[in-house]
Amino acid sequence: MTLDHLPPELRRTAKCGEFRQTHAGTNVVAMGWVARRRDLGSLIFIDLRDRAGVVQVVFNQETNAALHERAEDLRSEYVIAVEGKIIQRAVGTVNAGIPTGEVELIAERIYILNDARTPPFPIEDGVPTAEEARLRYRYVDLRRPRMQANLELRHRANFAVRSTLNDHGFLEIETPFMTRSTPEGARDYLVPSRVQPGTFYALPQSPQIFKQLLMVGGCDRYFQIVRCFRDEDLRADRQPEFTQIDLEMTYAQPELIYNVVEEMLVNLWKAGGFTIPRPFPRISYDEAMAQYGSDKPEMRLPRMFDAKPHFTAEDIQKLAIEPSLPFVAFRVPACSGLSRKERDELKPVATERGAKVFDDARALEKHYPQAVAGLKKELEWTENDLLILVGAPLGNGEAAPIAGPNPVNAVYTAAGALRLHAGQKYAAKHGLLRPDDFRFLWVLNFPMYEWDAEEKRFNAAHHPFTSPTDDTWEMLESNPGAVKAKAYDIVLNGTELGSGSIRIHRKDIQSRIFTSLGMSEEQAKQRFGFFLDALEYGTPPHGGIALGLDRIIMILAGENSIREVIAFPKTARAMDLMCEAPTTVSSTQLRELGIALKKDLS
Ligand code: AMO
Repeated sequence: MTLDHLPPELRRTAKCGEFRQTHAGTNVVAMGWVARRRDLGSLIFIDLRDRAGVVQVVFNQETNAALHERAEDLRSEYVIAVEGKIIQRAVGTVNAGIPTGEVELIAERIYILNDARTPPFPIEDGVPTAEEARLRYRYVDLRRPRMQANLELRHRANFAVRSTLNDHGFLEIETPFMTRSTPEGARDYLVPSRVQPGTFYALPQSPQIFKQLLMVGGCDRYFQIVRCFRDEDLRADRQPEFTQIDLEMTYAQPELIYNVVEEMLVNLWKAGGFTIPRPFPRISYDEAMAQYGSDKPEMRLPRMFDAKPHFTAEDIQKLAIEPSLPFVAFRVPACSGLSRKERDELKPVATERGAKVFDDARALEKHYPQAVAGLKKELEWTENDLLILVGAPLGNGEAAPIAGPNPVNAVYTAAGALRLHAGQKYAAKHGLLRPDDFRFLWVLNFPMYEWDAEEKRFNAAHHPFTSPTDDTWEMLESNPGAVKAKAYDIVLNGTELGSGSIRIHRKDIQSRIFTSLGMSEEQAKQRFGFFLDALEYGTPPHGGIALGLDRIIMILAGENSIREVIAFPKTARAMDLMCEAPTTVSSTQLRELGIALKKDLS
């Protein structure tokens, strides 16, 4: 078989997926991949595919025997150009399943522009294929309609972001990738410098410091759709390089930021074909913990309630529950029928966190009929729901006692984990947790610090540039655990979409925060001296937020992993299987960088 050149005068009339009845009777040129060939003897049908879809091409032996013979050579993924005529399909042969299904292209001439090896897997949606193969041959995987749709959605979303933020006077400004470490809590990816041997740039974990410096620099409103780099353990919603919609504005109160972000998300969802209502509900971090046992509540499942008011002090004692810690109840919809075994399999999610679980409502009801009746009413429990209560065991109960710096939240977290696990495992099957049920939520008023039990010190819960609240900042030294931050998260269906805060714009407070995080004045100066200096040159109050674009598109596309919405993602071991990165480098390269590798790298 000989390959043809693409004749310079040949122009595509339309993309394969764009042919419609309006084209009927016209001569056209189509180009694309051979998606499928059906050989019916005197007739050969080919599905010709491109980004827009497929069109059926017909080769008829009776009208053009030579062309028909050539069509016999065509194989999957050959790239061809077809000249011919679009005709309306005969009644009965219309394919209502595809947009081009009312027409077909009668081939009059073909150009075989390239052949192809047999694809490593079928290029079709819904055919289970090992992810490793998909990532190794990503350029083939990307031809699947679903991947094309995801990439197109991502493009439309980017467009909506740019358009919304442009309308609000934001400037898109790029910030450096080769920079120094930004403290977002993960490890840095380092880039060795050849010119200054022994020194390293860090790839930014976010443009946090730069965007604040842009506010000092008079840019007023900044945004960027920007790549961030974090060397951290990967999960379905985490990649080592990922994209943020990053923004910052001067003289911003949280309200202003919520407004811009909500409008942007409404427009983003519109780009995905969904209408979402505004304003988004808001709850405080403390409420989120008490009602959902998480700072990223999954709102599609019923919330948790305080069970304590329904029980007497004596009841609590009999139940061997720690009275000073939370005792919460929640219902798992449509799960009353779970067997003893199924319920036992759920429990460890909470008991392994040290909590005590009551999941036998009937047994509880026998001993505490009034309490259970009151609870059921408050929870709006129905016959179909499983009722679960979670508390902290007294002393040596069946589970390990709740310990840690914040035992209250530890009980909530244990209960929340069980609520989510049970919901995802069972309630999802009953039509809850629908992927197109979008429940946005602002979580506000976060604590300023988190206790790091291993290091035995406080860490910034958000990052160290976050402003403490006006009514708690005086406690920075005396009671850091009680200091609240002007920080907010935007959460959707149990996923943290974005995180932001009003920043510190005064040097004295910024220095105090660094000190409270265990940094000496010398260390603070060495790491952030340039930034502390900048705060002394007239820094306006400012604040902002960054949203994870990959996560947004993942949810909008109804996917379970951000790898499905990234053209060239990395594996859970941070590898690019297609390029086979990371790789070793030559000894010359290492020598130039002044780097010697240890023999034993394990
Ligand atoms: P934060 O670290 O919370 O805040 O990041 C903001 C959002 O980025 C997304 N994200 C990720 N997405 C994919 N893979 C990852 N590894 C990953 N890590 C984070 C999440 C997250 O909510 N500079 C601050 C923002 C600010 O204060 O303005 C920041 O980066 O959706």
